[in-house]
Amino acid sequence: MPAVTHATHPIEGQKPGTSGLRKKTPVFMKPHYLENFVQSIFDVVGAKGKTFVLGGDGRYFNDRAAQVILRMAAANGAARVIVGQGAILSTPAASHLIRLNRTDGGIIMSASHNPGGLTEDFGVKFNMPNGGPAPEAVTEAIFARTQAITEYRLEEADDIDLAVIGRTRLGGMTVDVVDPVADYAALMEGLFDFDAIRGMVKGGFRMRFDAMCAVTGPYAQEILEGRLGLPAGTVVNGTPLPDFGGHHPDPNPTWAHALMDEMMGPAAPDFGAASDGDGDRNMIVGRGIYVSPSDSLAVLAANAHLAPAYKAGLKGVARSMPTSCAADRVADALGIDKYETPTGWKFFGNLLDAGRATLCGEESFGTGSDHVREKDGLWAVLLWLNILAVRRQGVAEILRDHWARFGRNYYSRHDFEALDAKAAEEMMSRLKASIPTLPGTEIEGMAIAAADDFAYHDPVDGTTSRGQGVRIRFEDGSRIVLRLSGTGTEGATLRLYLERYEADPARHGLDPQEALAPVIRAAHALAGIKEQIGRDRPNVIT
Ligand code: G1P
Ligand code: ZN
Repeated sequence: MPAVTHATHPIEGQKPGTSGLRKKTPVFMKPHYLENFVQSIFDVVGAKGKTFVLGGDGRYFNDRAAQVILRMAAANGAARVIVGQGAILSTPAASHLIRLNRTDGGIIMSASHNPGGLTEDFGVKFNMPNGGPAPEAVTEAIFARTQAITEYRLEEADDIDLAVIGRTRLGGMTVDVVDPVADYAALMEGLFDFDAIRGMVKGGFRMRFDAMCAVTGPYAQEILEGRLGLPAGTVVNGTPLPDFGGHHPDPNPTWAHALMDEMMGPAAPDFGAASDGDGDRNMIVGRGIYVSPSDSLAVLAANAHLAPAYKAGLKGVARSMPTSCAADRVADALGIDKYETPTGWKFFGNLLDAGRATLCGEESFGTGSDHVREKDGLWAVLLWLNILAVRRQGVAEILRDHWARFGRNYYSRHDFEALDAKAAEEMMSRLKASIPTLPGTEIEGMAIAAADDFAYHDPVDGTTSRGQGVRIRFEDGSRIVLRLSGTGTEGATLRLYLERYEADPARHGLDPQEALAPVIRAAHALAGIKEQIGRDRPNVIT
């Protein structure tokens, strides 16, 4: 059956962001829409004779899109595509398969933690041969191509049966349908002390993992229940559904409230965790205690040497700029390098590739290491389990010990969503313009030590990324950061990040919002949030 060339025309707005191209599902389903974007990827990265990985988080349209992408890969001369059974692969598992098979990259179908379904979101992104998201130069080239495209190629062929593991052919291309879980589970088993965790489970340790009806269900069932011996039912919402059961598959206290309720209730197990739509985010909760992602990164950094993969110690720790400075204190104590990067996982890629950082994390529930080039939800859960098993302590004890040793960085993020985009931009411009006048002044009784619009100088490739968010540091070490979201789909979203350091263990038991009250007041006064965007309260607090 032949490869057919179809005439097409550029479609406006096919600009991939930091996480690929994300749009409402019906937009992706419009004539030529998916085809134009995928052809633009192949035009930029080249397909002839190449091998790619393909999979997605199982959301609505995942299966149809996979068939189209396979036919386009064949028509563009790809030699081989490795595709997860049922077109399923979690984002970290896809990253691993790209690396393990030394492929030329991969296409991941996901809109991460955004809801799925006919009226919700879909997404496509290209990952490089190192397993990480395409850098800006590549996504810009793909975008430019979408604006010039005149044709795409599609193999005229029947659907491949993606339910069956094994090798088939599509035109001149080999298609390998693989178990989406097996290689990933083997990787995890190689990184962590599964014997120690099994011992802890035999001793009565119990946990809950909420897969949020998204992609990690089968992974968690195989690893937690299958290999680590946790009882059946440990994993809840474990069957991936095209609409994620109508839920918002985002592991934070708001969207994973069922898990939060259980963990704060009288029948709480020892440990709770959740992951997002495509499996790269994680939320960690102990019995009666929530672990903020910034604290989680710091605790993992301080204890990673207890897991076999990291026993020689860490090369460095990297965090995104708005993430709390808790991990920096650990890096300083360990005498290892620390890095502060702009928001977005792609900025960690160079540090990981160059062997300068081993652990990375973002306040937005993303944690990972150099084992793949994406953040990895289940990896974080397993590293926590490994630490709990070796230290023979609970989450609360470990957290309190950590704060006693390093001090506590009280931290919170306030999101103001669906704002008038123009008003939000104006507020930020006004704030940026005031930066030079801020140091040395006082606001709401707090003395400002430094202020800037964050610019990142990548130490590996020498590039500079400017305008990454306004940072304000106070004399007492407190910090506020303001930036506009790059991933929101409705109007603008203002993210306000708040942090206050407390060394005194007698003051480590406060409610974070209370502990941060003076910093919150200063942030509102400084940016004029109410006056500028007409809101005095955030919609989401994490
Ligand atoms: C958000 C998070 C950021 C994360 C990104 C992709 O981006 O804040 O840390 O890397 O999603 O998962 P934002 O909407 O803030 O631009
Ligand atoms: Zn995700």
